[in-house]
Amino acid sequence: MSAKHESFGSRHLPSFDETNDLKITKPDVLRFALIIIFVCGMIFSDITEIPTVPKFSVDNASLTQFNYTKTNHSLSYNLALNITITNPKKYIGLEYSDIQVTAYYGRTRFAFVTLVNETASFHQNPNTTVSFENVAVQGQKLVLFAESVFNKYSSGTDAGVYSVDLLIAFKETFVSGNAICNLKLPLGFNGTSTPGFEATKCWRRRYY
Ligand SMILES: *[C@@H]1O[C@H](CO)[C@@H](O)[C@H](O)[C@H]1NC(C)=O
Ligand SMILES: *[C@@H]1O[C@H](CO)[C@@H](O)[C@H](O)[C@H]1NC(C)=O
Ligand SMILES: *[C@@H]1O[C@H](CO)[C@@H](O)[C@H](O)[C@H]1NC(C)=O
Ligand SMILES: *[C@@H]1O[C@H](CO)[C@@H](O)[C@H](O)[C@H]1NC(C)=O
Ligand SMILES: *[C@@H]1O[C@H](CO)[C@@H](O)[C@H](O)[C@H]1NC(C)=O
Ligand SMILES: *[C@@H]1O[C@H](CO)[C@@H](O)[C@H](O)[C@H]1NC(C)=O
Ligand SMILES: *[C@@H]1O[C@H](CO)[C@@H](O)[C@H](O)[C@H]1NC(C)=O
Repeated sequence: MSAKHESFGSRHLPSFDETNDLKITKPDVLRFALIIIFVCGMIFSDITEIPTVPKFSVDNASLTQFNYTKTNHSLSYNLALNITITNPKKYIGLEYSDIQVTAYYGRTRFAFVTLVNETASFHQNPNTTVSFENVAVQGQKLVLFAESVFNKYSSGTDAGVYSVDLLIAFKETFVSGNAICNLKLPLGFNGTSTPGFEATKCWRRRYY
C-alpha cells in the first residue's frame, strides 16, 4: 500500500515539473487573453457607440425655384441636394432599410423624398462615406401661410436666401432615428443655381 502511495507520489513529481513549464507559458496565455480583451473592447466600443451613427450632411444644394403664389396658396419648388452619409465605425457596417427626407419651410412641411426603402435596402461598409447625388425635391404644394410668414424665412427678397430644414429619418438594423439639417439656400434666379451654398452638417435630433 505504502509502496503504491510512493509510486503515486513519484508519478506526481514530473507533473510538478510540468507546472514549472506552465509558469513559463502563463504570461503568454495572459498576453493572449489581453489581446482578446483588447480586440473585444474595441469592437464593444464600436457597438456601444452605435447610437451615435450614422452622420449626415448636405454637401451641396441648389435651389432653382421657390415661388409662393398667395392667390392659390401654391408653393412651387425645385431643389437638388447632395446628401452625404458617413459611417465612422471601424468594424461595423450599417444596413439601412429606410431613409426618408422631409423638407420644411418654417414649420410647414412641403416635400418628401425616399432615398432608401425596404425593397431597395442599402448596405454601408465600415469607415466609408456615401453620397446620394442630385436628390430632386421638386413639385408644387398647397400650403397656407401668409406672405409675411413666407418672407420671414428668407433674408431679403433680392438676395433670396431661404431657410429650409430637412428632417432625415432612417431605419438601420441596430439604430433608428432622425437628424435635422438647417439649410440656407440661395435662390438661383433664372432657373440656374447660384454658388454660395455652404456644406451643412446635420445634427442628431433623436437616435434610439
Ligand atoms: C452633386 O455632386 C455632383 C458630383 O460631385 C455634382 O456634379 C453635382 O453638381 C452636385 N449637385 C448639386 C445639386 O450640387
Ligand atoms: C455646388 O454646386 C455648384 C453647382 O453645381 C458648384 O458651382 C459649387 O462649386 C458646388 N459647391 C461645392 C461646395 O461643392
Ligand atoms: C415666380 O413667380 C413670379 C410671378 O408669378 C414669376 O415672374 C417668376 O418667373 C417665378 N420664378 C420662378 C423661379 O419660377
Ligand atoms: C397657382 O398660381 C400660379 C401662378 O398663377 C401657377 O403657376 C400655379 O400653377 C398655380 N398652382 C395651382 C396648384 O393651381
Ligand atoms: C478609415 O479610412 C481612412 C481614410 O480612407 C483610412 O486612412 C483609415 O486607415 C481607415 N481606418 C480603418 C480602421 O480602416
Ligand atoms: C422602393 O424603392 C425602389 C427604388 O427606388 C422603387 O422602385 C420602389 O417602388 C420603392 N418601393 C416602395 C414600396 O416605395
Ligand atoms: C438666364 O441664364 C442664361 C444662362 O445662364 C443667360 O444666358 C440669360 O441671359 C439669363 N437671363 C436673365 C434674364 O438673366
